[in-house]
Amino acid sequence: MSVTNPPPTGAQGARRVRVHHLRQAKEQGEKITMITAYDAATAAIFDAAGVDSILVGDSIGNTMLGLETTLPVTLDDMVRAGRAVASVTKRAFVVVDLPFGTYEDGPSQALASAVRVMKETGAAAVKLEGGVRSAAQIRAITDAGIPVVGHLGFTPQSVNALGGHRVQGRGDERAAALRRDALAVQEAGAVAVVLEMVPQGVAADVTGLLTVPTIGIGAGVDVDGQVLVWTDMAGMTDWSPRFAKRFAEIGQALQGAATDYVAEVRAGTFPGPEHSFER
Ligand code: KIV
Repeated sequence: MSVTNPPPTGAQGARRVRVHHLRQAKEQGEKITMITAYDAATAAIFDAAGVDSILVGDSIGNTMLGLETTLPVTLDDMVRAGRAVASVTKRAFVVVDLPFGTYEDGPSQALASAVRVMKETGAAAVKLEGGVRSAAQIRAITDAGIPVVGHLGFTPQSVNALGGHRVQGRGDERAAALRRDALAVQEAGAVAVVLEMVPQGVAADVTGLLTVPTIGIGAGVDVDGQVLVWTDMAGMTDWSPRFAKRFAEIGQALQGAATDYVAEVRAGTFPGPEHSFER
């Protein structure tokens, strides 16, 4: 077994990455790959590329909805995107974020939000932010049979309280707090934990402490897997964070294609006979 080649499961023999494959990957030292997607078109591409998990992140706010932060993202936004992604994904483990304001009130609010996501999207798991403060919510959702992914370190829904996009867990006290949060999330039943913008050594310590996999973003290489926001990974924007490698320059390529299209329509060279129908 490997995350990248899970055994056939399901009626059609589809090779679907399941929650136990994530744990096995950690035990076997095999890296887990996760990428965000917010629509069917990109999800199908990433699934075909063999990514192990697709995160329908509330980063949809910044990346797709023109918002400055993730805070205004709604459960409706996540459900619509989650359904689109899950509907075309054959192999990857699909995780949908619970957005700000849909779980902080307590376990019953969190459970209701998670149940709606699971009923209406076809995703495999939900993700929510916070450690000790979110443990009761993770427990309630887990007890209902819904896998939960935790999210620690820089948690974008708390961007105002954290004073901006800053590395978290620096210094002994903060690193100890992060370890406590990680253990609380695991104890509450989380199946994996995202570590965002955490010093590499601290992320390595947390990874060694936990039996569930850690998935890093800006957390160095000594974690069990990596996640990137697809628009950063593919070079869709002029700027991308330091921790996000640009594996392509799709933004430039797309602009080039659109520029050519505009020019050809204006010049009357598109559509040609091969794009037109006979009487
Ligand atoms: O919403 C998101 O894209 C995320 C990643 C940054 C992990 O939570």
